[in-house]
Amino acid sequence: MGTIRQIVLARRPCGVPVPGDFLLVTAPMPVIGPGEILVRMRVASCDPAIRGFMDDRPSYLPPIAVGAPINGMSLGEVVASNDPDWPVGTYLRTFATWSDHYVIRGDALGLERVDAAPGVPPQHYMGALGPVGLTAWVGLIAVGDAKAGETVVVSAAAGATGSTVVQLAKARGCRVIGLCGGAEKAAVVRGLGADVAIDYRAEPDLAEAIRAAAPDGVDVYFDNVGGETLDALLPLMRMHGRVAVCGMISQYNDADNPAGVKNLWQLVVNRITMRGFLTYDHVDRLGEAQEELDALYASGALRPLENVREGFEALPAAFIDLMAGRTIGKTLVLT
Ligand SMILES: NC(=O)c1ccc[n+]([C@@H]2O[C@H](COP(=O)([O-])OP(=O)(O)OC[C@H]3O[C@@H](n4cnc5c(N)ncnc54)[C@H](OP(=O)(O)O)[C@@H]3O)[C@@H](O)[C@H]2O)c1
Repeated sequence: MGTIRQIVLARRPCGVPVPGDFLLVTAPMPVIGPGEILVRMRVASCDPAIRGFMDDRPSYLPPIAVGAPINGMSLGEVVASNDPDWPVGTYLRTFATWSDHYVIRGDALGLERVDAAPGVPPQHYMGALGPVGLTAWVGLIAVGDAKAGETVVVSAAAGATGSTVVQLAKARGCRVIGLCGGAEKAAVVRGLGADVAIDYRAEPDLAEAIRAAAPDGVDVYFDNVGGETLDALLPLMRMHGRVAVCGMISQYNDADNPAGVKNLWQLVVNRITMRGFLTYDHVDRLGEAQEELDALYASGALRPLENVREGFEALPAAFIDLMAGRTIGKTLVLT
């Protein structure tokens, strides 16, 4: 009978989260009941969507209660089990809580077995070989229908999803323009193979900068940020262009004051399809997606870009850095 550590929501953040919004607490080690599985967290994933769950407003999952553990995805190892399908020693990923041990059942949200290939760092299965890669694939291929020779623009291109979209789109023969904040991130995006990387912070007129890089227009916009960037892109889309709406991180820290998008008429002018998606809505395509990601990784065409921190207690600071735009690649914490 030991204790476990949890990170709970101390209060609802106002703007970018700060350390005082989180509290590290201890609780008794849970004892599993019939059908339950005790999991030791190994790799925690910092995801912008968590910022939405910290507000008291409807999202695609209920808000986190003040005083309750933060919810998030993680990769873990089964350390005790009353479910024969999930024996001790199994590695899995699931939506759970920020707890160094947690209890799930076989029907837990997003529960999947993880069979790491020999020599592949397990954290890649929370990144480009896991949910991040699947999100990039679903948005670019299943929703964006990107084809060889087409021009793809992706925002937050040095981030987890964006950096994977850049590499996947290049591997599929697209021309890729990555948007990101800062010269260091732009250099990273070019290093991943993007044809053009635009530091939007340095551009007085973002739309003009994209137009100069894509004079014939944009076929697919993979939107990670929403807001003014989305508005700048809409008039640049080609006839029958596709906007794959993955997320709107520029709005998450101040969800009470969303930026207005003024250029929606362009959807009619150029018969643009704009479609929001959640990765796990597309379970029928995930096998195909995983195969392509694994093959690209094996060939060296996909290099997981990661910001890896150490120690369970590092989770709040890692998440704060993510939501302040300070991270490059997928933000993961090895616990
Ligand atoms: N639909 C789905 O199933 C699904 C799944 C996973 C993630 N997502 C969404 O995908 C998007 C990217 O997520 P990710 O996990 O790959 O994270 P990420 O790109 O690593 O996120 C951080 C980056 O977002 C950019 N950003 C833009 N405006 C920001 C702002 N106001 N505050 C903080 N950061 C800002 C920053 O890059 P710059 O400095 O370059 O602007 C920052 O470095 C998010 O919108 C997320 O919600 C959706």
